[in-house]
Amino acid sequence: TVTAAQACGAPNAEPVRPGSRAVREAERARRAPNAPVVSKELLAKPSEVDLGGIRVPTWTFDDRLPGPEIRVRRGDVLRADLRNTVPEGVTIHWHGIALRNDMDGVPAVTQEPVAPGERFRYEFTVPDAGTYFFHSHVGMQLDRGLYAPLIVEDPDEPGRYDDEVVLVLDDWLDGVSAGPEAQLAELRREGMSMGGMGHGGTGGMQGGEGHGGAGGGPLGADTGDVDYPHYLINGRIPSAPFVADARPGQRLRLRLINPGADTAFRVAVGGHRMTVTHTDGFPIEPVETDSVLLGMGERYDVLVTVGDGVFPIVASAEGKRGQAMALIRTGSGTAPPATVRPRELASRTRMAEELRATEPVRLRPGEPDRTHTLKLGMDSSAKYRWTINDRTFDQREPMPIRRGERVRLRFVNTTMMFHPMHLHGHTFQLVGGRGAGARKDTVIVRPLETVEVDFQVDNPGQWLVHCHNTYHGESGMMTVLSCV
Ligand code: C2O
Ligand code: CU
Repeated sequence: TVTAAQACGAPNAEPVRPGSRAVREAERARRAPNAPVVSKELLAKPSEVDLGGIRVPTWTFDDRLPGPEIRVRRGDVLRADLRNTVPEGVTIHWHGIALRNDMDGVPAVTQEPVAPGERFRYEFTVPDAGTYFFHSHVGMQLDRGLYAPLIVEDPDEPGRYDDEVVLVLDDWLDGVSAGPEAQLAELRREGMSMGGMGHGGTGGMQGGEGHGGAGGGPLGADTGDVDYPHYLINGRIPSAPFVADARPGQRLRLRLINPGADTAFRVAVGGHRMTVTHTDGFPIEPVETDSVLLGMGERYDVLVTVGDGVFPIVASAEGKRGQAMALIRTGSGTAPPATVRPRELASRTRMAEELRATEPVRLRPGEPDRTHTLKLGMDSSAKYRWTINDRTFDQREPMPIRRGERVRLRFVNTTMMFHPMHLHGHTFQLVGGRGAGARKDTVIVRPLETVEVDFQVDNPGQWLVHCHNTYHGESGMMTVLSCV
């Protein structure tokens, strides 16, 4: 086998370890001399949460679902003290943040899980503004409810909106009894076949291509064979929705976050168009649309100028039955029913590849120094097993990258499901859009499609790349980029 160092043609180059000097130096370079420190305590604990008349036992941060929002400003140092009181080891991953590698929260790669009864201090500089979230990176703990929004404000951002609303989407399995681990174990036992799904709770869209329109979504045909108990916005079911109060005519920034383990959501606001301004935290040239589509792990920021009344924000589970709903209330009026389908959902949605990064966040033009192809596959021999280049995570061979390089990742999806592929520690740019593709950390790769992204290796360490369908990731669709 070729080690990362040899492949780079630098016999003495050693992979950068999470706690190494290079990592500490990168942190030092990011941190301003008098950077403010924002301190937070986070308690991971068994909880009973109220989804809106339905009480479920699960695990949360601070007894809340979503967990408590953390809000900092670009350049701040975030110091988060995790205390773990759930009966398994827990980590926190700061999804989308270009942080120091030893704070990335990846079990077996950057740290050991924080054992029951133990504490761990996460402390790192937050370099970029935007809409992010954090979650446990151990097993299916994200799916249990160990997630929360992380908002990084930009002190220099011009005031383009009057107020903002954070909206966290989720698909909710039925608590601990039919919980995520049980579900995953069952999938592994049963295995699955390449074409069909037909198994509740595994999700994923099948077949098809094309954009929006009636019948099939951009991710594939509407199979409707998956029926979750609940879809949530800010921890609430549609019949007891989260309500955002505002004034008529106000310009609202909606920060949409999808930590769902297994569901892409198409989001629309009844009676309103929206202007998309950011994806995965990074600014894009604003575009108008009726709806946006968020794969698991993605975020979109949109602006809406609200009318007078009560309006539904609907997050439709793409390719499945069911939806989540929240309300914007600016005046009197009756709340729409939980099953309302705004007509905005029926028109064509905006896909990430149609967006263009704003000038300041584009990579400088150029060809990649190195390309890695990641073939996304499924091992259909027996078990429920998802692969990258025919290997599962436990058989992984780290892919070498080198500091200073521009690296291209080519995701080749050989399966009939979509995969939201997520890169740690960096933000990539979608190739295409004449050099101005959107800057993102998570990109949907549709069935049988190939997607290319470029990034600049500027953050030393061991960085995960994986499918953010938590079932796929935990069943093997994960690998590591090893920086030398
Ligand atoms: Cu939000 Cu490695 O993931
Ligand atoms: Cu996947």
